[in-house]
Amino acid sequence: MALVSYVPKYLTHKFPATSRNLLFVTDSDLRAGEFQADSRTVSTMKRVVVWMFSLTLVIPVSSQVFHWGPCPTPMVQPNFELNRYLGKWYEIEKLPATYEKGTCIETNYSLRPDKTIRVVIKGKVRTAEGTAIIQNQREPAKLGVSFSYFTPYSPHWVLSTDYDSMSLLYSCTEVLRLFHVDYAWILSRSRSLPPETIYHAKEVFSRDNIDVSRMVPTDQHGCEGGA
Ligand SMILES: *[C@@H]1O[C@H](CO)[C@@H](O)[C@H](O)[C@H]1NC(C)=O
Repeated sequence: MALVSYVPKYLTHKFPATSRNLLFVTDSDLRAGEFQADSRTVSTMKRVVVWMFSLTLVIPVSSQVFHWGPCPTPMVQPNFELNRYLGKWYEIEKLPATYEKGTCIETNYSLRPDKTIRVVIKGKVRTAEGTAIIQNQREPAKLGVSFSYFTPYSPHWVLSTDYDSMSLLYSCTEVLRLFHVDYAWILSRSRSLPPETIYHAKEVFSRDNIDVSRMVPTDQHGCEGGA
């Protein structure tokens, strides 16, 4: 709970209590000395808080998975081949992300004439179209994805894929190296995967220190035809 006390007064007036709940940090997360109230720390903390509030404006509260410390640095798919990756993928499990709530979620990656990657995420509830780019040709598996002109590209890393059955995606955003917020997806070319494949996928994430304990399955039942 310690962070809450660093919320500047003017912010607590402006934001509802539900937003403030985001700042919950358990005592076990707090190690001695990390929150000494010298002025430099306090001003850093204020920036963190402001940053976190701006995140809460974008991403509703309950879905967030905050972790202490900087992002993990997982290995990504070596020699990633975008062309083999294009097309349709079904979401099998994920670490919660709200812009794709609902059931029957599928993503279609295709190339636009300008060589940017069109990303259409479609579910029963809604469809979102975004753009993916390869930010550094030397690391083509590290895609960036944005769903509007106004948001920066967020990481969309392909940790592992065989292109024709499964893909493991990861996205992590750091807040001043103090926190990170992350998302993970297990995607498949079909609407289901054998349990042992999912188990193995989670092992891959875990090996890179990604916490998969809160992953949830996406309902892919009754999706075909007249929805
Ligand atoms: C994916 O999108 C592309 C471009 O709009 C389209 O041509 C293609 O048919 C779509 N693929 C699937 C499997 O829906």
